[in-house]
Amino acid sequence: MEKLASKEAGRPQYLLCLETTCDETAAAVISDRLEVLGAVVASQDRLHERFRGVVPEIASRAHVERILPAIDLAFQQAGIKPTDLSAVAVAHTPGLAGSLMVGLMAAKTMALVLKIPLIGVDHLQAHVYACRIASGEEIFPCVGLVVSGGHTSLYWCPNALEFQLIGSTIDDAAGEAFDKVASMLGLGYPGGPAVERAAASGNPRAYNFPRSLLDDPERLDFSFSGLKTAVRYAICGPGKVDFSRLQLPAETVADLAASFQEAVVDCLVGKAFLALQKMGVSTLCVGGGVAANKRFRQRLEEEAARRKVRLFIAPLKLCTDNAVMGAIAWERYRAGLFEPLELDIQAGPIRLKSPKGATPGA
Ligand code: KG4
Ligand code: ZN
Repeated sequence: MEKLASKEAGRPQYLLCLETTCDETAAAVISDRLEVLGAVVASQDRLHERFRGVVPEIASRAHVERILPAIDLAFQQAGIKPTDLSAVAVAHTPGLAGSLMVGLMAAKTMALVLKIPLIGVDHLQAHVYACRIASGEEIFPCVGLVVSGGHTSLYWCPNALEFQLIGSTIDDAAGEAFDKVASMLGLGYPGGPAVERAAASGNPRAYNFPRSLLDDPERLDFSFSGLKTAVRYAICGPGKVDFSRLQLPAETVADLAASFQEAVVDCLVGKAFLALQKMGVSTLCVGGGVAANKRFRQRLEEEAARRKVRLFIAPLKLCTDNAVMGAIAWERYRAGLFEPLELDIQAGPIRLKSPKGATPGA
């Protein structure tokens, strides 16, 4: 391919990465030296806030409106033109079907018109790769932990092209549990940051919530639905209740939030270090929206120091969804792993809105 020749000429090469897997419309321009030249994230939080969860149809329509301005702005920031690109990369799995399609169509169109390679990115692998981009250091081989709204997954990653799933949640994702508990406690959306704020003044030992599967040294899986139900019972027992009408004292909300957060963190930290032990490696890379949680970061750092583990946690702006982490596509580019224009989306588990007044998790 003509564009590949520019490498031989020693000129920098540029990659456009697109991310529309859920409710952030993001575009980034990254050089082959992994310099971030342009990075745009158009958040849809305000559109989904009143539904207390992402509404797939609203998300896909918003992506359609935002994708071209986001790409334009990324080019402006980078000071390059579309014709300067060597390739275009897109997160095409997993995510909400309608949302994924918007990014994929934009990427395919650019690949076709500009006659450049199309590279497919796995959104969860990209969350791990955020640690590589941010640190500038070699991170492989490592154990990768991705904790987001739709996934809680542990990977064995011998190199940047091989990600083997070694553990995951058997029910709710950790972020989803944060969002549902926030909704029960009347803390708003997105739930993670709201629970974290409320937890700051609470007692993490006020409630002894379950740590499902944590004691099983044979399993690297997670389970958060029992914890979510335990919080519900602690608030109001098993009966049907309209959470929007509950008026809990601020101290109780803080204690519930802190105790819930501590239980989630115990499970995530416990299984991540068990995975390192089982895989015989000492590098841990953590990404995904929940990795923005300060208590989680603090506990990871303490445990890593104690066990002499090399720990990489994505910086805050690369924890939640962004296109910069799509730079993992350079690894595929170098390996010649391009996709045909027939590339399709591959949707995954999704977070649907919980209707007002309904029992969370029901
Ligand atoms: O990775 P992400 O931006 O999107 C998905 O791919 O799902 O993760 C979003 C999730 C949401 O559930 C949000 O509540 C959670 O990450 N989150 C947090 C924090 N910030 C975001 N959870 C706990 N503490 C936080 N500070
Ligand atoms: Zn994500």
